[in-house]
Amino acid sequence: MDYEATLTQAREKIEACPDASALKEVERHYLGRKGAIADLLGSIGELPPDERKAVGQGANRLKQAIQQIVDARASVLDAESLEAERASGGFDPTLPPARLPTGSLHPITQVTRELEDLFLSMGYSVLDGPEVELDYYNFEALNVPKDHPARDSHDTFFCDPEGRLVLRTHTSPVQVRAMERLDPPFRVIASGRCFRQETTDASHDHTFYQMEGMVVARDISVGHLIGAMRTLLRGIFGRNLEVRLRPGYFPFVEPGFELDARCPFCESGCSVCKKTTWVELLPCGLVHPNVLRAGGIDPEEWSGFAFGLGLSRLVMLRYGIDDVRHLLGGDLRFLEQF
Ligand code: DAH
Repeated sequence: MDYEATLTQAREKIEACPDASALKEVERHYLGRKGAIADLLGSIGELPPDERKAVGQGANRLKQAIQQIVDARASVLDAESLEAERASGGFDPTLPPARLPTGSLHPITQVTRELEDLFLSMGYSVLDGPEVELDYYNFEALNVPKDHPARDSHDTFFCDPEGRLVLRTHTSPVQVRAMERLDPPFRVIASGRCFRQETTDASHDHTFYQMEGMVVARDISVGHLIGAMRTLLRGIFGRNLEVRLRPGYFPFVEPGFELDARCPFCESGCSVCKKTTWVELLPCGLVHPNVLRAGGIDPEEWSGFAFGLGLSRLVMLRYGIDDVRHLLGGDLRFLEQF
């Protein structure tokens, strides 16, 4: 057998194979169990002994050479067929998987969690209270008896004809629940939904979020309150903001304040601060002795401060949202931005 001629012929045939099945056929012809080379090796026994070795070696080299050419052609064909499939828009295993749409946390949830982390780092506990609340916790125990004029400003949703159950109008009732459950000294925050029966507009919604804070300890002063509020604002806005206190009236604190901060967005007046350079952020005060008493705490021995952060308003400030109704509108075009 002429090895060189056989190899050349095999190479031509292999390289002419248009696809994998044709290649298999040629491979079988040369290298199969009944192929040309198997034949040659099988006939060695009929040769004179001194020729056998040379023929055997030659046949094996030929076999290896053909196998290499077959393998090379196979990988070329493989790549070609993948390329063809991809070009025809068929399955392409190299493409990344289609991205499933993922949700995101609501901006109120994001800010709430951020503030909870901040307060936890300052030793506060995070509490929770019911949204359907007893009139007793929402008003009475907070020093707002039945005929108190302050009730007028809380346009209340009542849940029963007797008016014993209400949708909480603020998170302050959690203060009383905290005092009932915890022994002083303690520091707590509680955030969540509040409800008021209000005509909605860009800055009022019937459902909104607050975060309540309360600290009860010995000898608490307005200094402690201001210090805590400064830290809170630094946590929210990432830098120290100048603050000022104005007197504010809330029946559950005495003295009560409105805490304003220097507008975080401008130096000389803008639409957020209504050209005043101050933004009203935090109603707060020292806990009224009647409230401590209602919570079972002796006001002669203990004192405290409390604050009620308007979370919805804070989120609007933080993200430049101009209408509070976006927050609970459920519009994906709004939500997907966070
Ligand atoms: N609960 C009050 C409101 O929603 C806000 C408030 C004022 C909370 C003073 C406080 C406070 O804890 O000390 O109108």
